[in-house]
Amino acid sequence: LITPVSLTEHRTLPHALLAVERETGDIAWIEDNVPASSLQDVLARRGILSLEDVDLVELKLGEFLMPGFIDTHIHAPQVPNIGSGQQYELLDWLEHVTFPMEARFEDEHFARRAYTSVIKRTIDYGSTTCCYYGTLHLEGTKALAEVIHKYGQRAFVGKCNMDRNSPPNYVEPSAAASLAATRALIAHIRALPPPPGRAGEPLVRPILTPRFAISCSHELLAGLGALAAEDPALHIQTHISENAGEIRFTKELFPPASLPKPPAPLPSNGATGEAKVVKNGKKLESTYAGVYDAFGLLRRNTVLAHAVHLEDEEVEIIKAREAGISHCPTSNFNLRSGCARIGMLLDHGIKVSLGTDVSGGFSPSILSAVQHASMCSKVVATQARTPPPPGTRFTDRQLPVPTLLYLATQGGADVCDIGERVGSLAPGKAFDALVVSVRSDVGNPATWGVDMDLELGVREAELGEDESEEVELESFLERFLFCGDDRNVRRVYVQGRLIGGKDFGM
Ligand code: GUN
Ligand code: FE
Repeated sequence: LITPVSLTEHRTLPHALLAVERETGDIAWIEDNVPASSLQDVLARRGILSLEDVDLVELKLGEFLMPGFIDTHIHAPQVPNIGSGQQYELLDWLEHVTFPMEARFEDEHFARRAYTSVIKRTIDYGSTTCCYYGTLHLEGTKALAEVIHKYGQRAFVGKCNMDRNSPPNYVEPSAAASLAATRALIAHIRALPPPPGRAGEPLVRPILTPRFAISCSHELLAGLGALAAEDPALHIQTHISENAGEIRFTKELFPPASLPKPPAPLPSNGATGEAKVVKNGKKLESTYAGVYDAFGLLRRNTVLAHAVHLEDEEVEIIKAREAGISHCPTSNFNLRSGCARIGMLLDHGIKVSLGTDVSGGFSPSILSAVQHASMCSKVVATQARTPPPPGTRFTDRQLPVPTLLYLATQGGADVCDIGERVGSLAPGKAFDALVVSVRSDVGNPATWGVDMDLELGVREAELGEDESEEVELESFLERFLFCGDDRNVRRVYVQGRLIGGKDFGM
């Protein structure tokens, strides 16, 4: 069993026994150091007298259990475009590739068919929670939520708000119409029947989704801010500071004089640079983050995708508001947006997670985001002109494996403000987990080298030497993260329920 503990640490338990409560799907307990020979004793101590009372899943050598991946930024209707359009930068890509595809989701039948295939795939790639953008269409996005509900994934689902700077066939007629459809979607999602498992905890939840500032009028952002203020539990997602042209256009559309005053005072939560934000209030108003803040859209449950070119004042306000970042490195390379300075954000204590950003990103797998997050951090490190500043841990350094694991799991949970419930394997949390295999029958590079040892029985002969087994688990994890794919993801569980993976339904 492998589970993250902090940004720099994870636990590897070579002989763990993990129990899931059948009724709730929550993790009841985890025992370390349970050799097969003492299984019955441990169960008896836990009050389980017969193996008949449990469904036992035993993992073979080369298989391990880990928390499910959390994809904090993915556009479900862009999946049919995946792998095309890499010649464009953001604004041209939206116009020529993305909007024409999203417009097709007006057809609810088409939407339902496409979304069914999308959801099955993201589950099989090991994403147990996703933050989904739908299209601007109410009916199609209802269908998205229903499909996710049916297949048992945990998710946040939003309908794009976009009432300007969009093509005539793919734009909402007014701010009022956009807000009404948003309210209708929220009501629809909240009325879905309760899923099996823990009572009173829906798996699919609504999320406000102003596409980005450019596509929203002042009136629309103000309306969304009011909706958010009414309902503090409502999540919010949007794009921020992805591309130079986008930032320039945003500042043109929202000059400081056009902005309302932020509805709430800055929280006095001891954020590092709070004083600076207050002092430089003028400057904040002329930034991208300042626009969202002025409309009350930056808060603890806000997910901000990209954050590639943040100015200092923006870093401070995001920290002060406790909003989180979805780092989308595959997309940021693919659309030539740039390399986000994730290490710097982590050193500021900002919550960071990973997003595939399909189809700006060309892979639906968080594994690709992990790999590109590593490469991105290495680019940032090699381009730094000075040594990392003293007192920092991550700035201008490459992100190590424990950090990458954290961003892909617990970091995502924290950004979605559900870190108490998912993101790691611990008693009391939901069993949202993957069984991963690096055994040779999987047949991809993640198994090369590993399989020879396993087949020769070399490692088996070493059983009992805990230290070498922990090292071995570390190497399984690293190989899976860097050259794994969906073939390694054998079983996918959400809230204790098996919902996908290569061995599902076999
Ligand atoms: N900004 C506004 N819309 C989008 C989108 O669909 N993808 C990305 N990557 N950025 C956006
Ligand atoms: Fe995006």
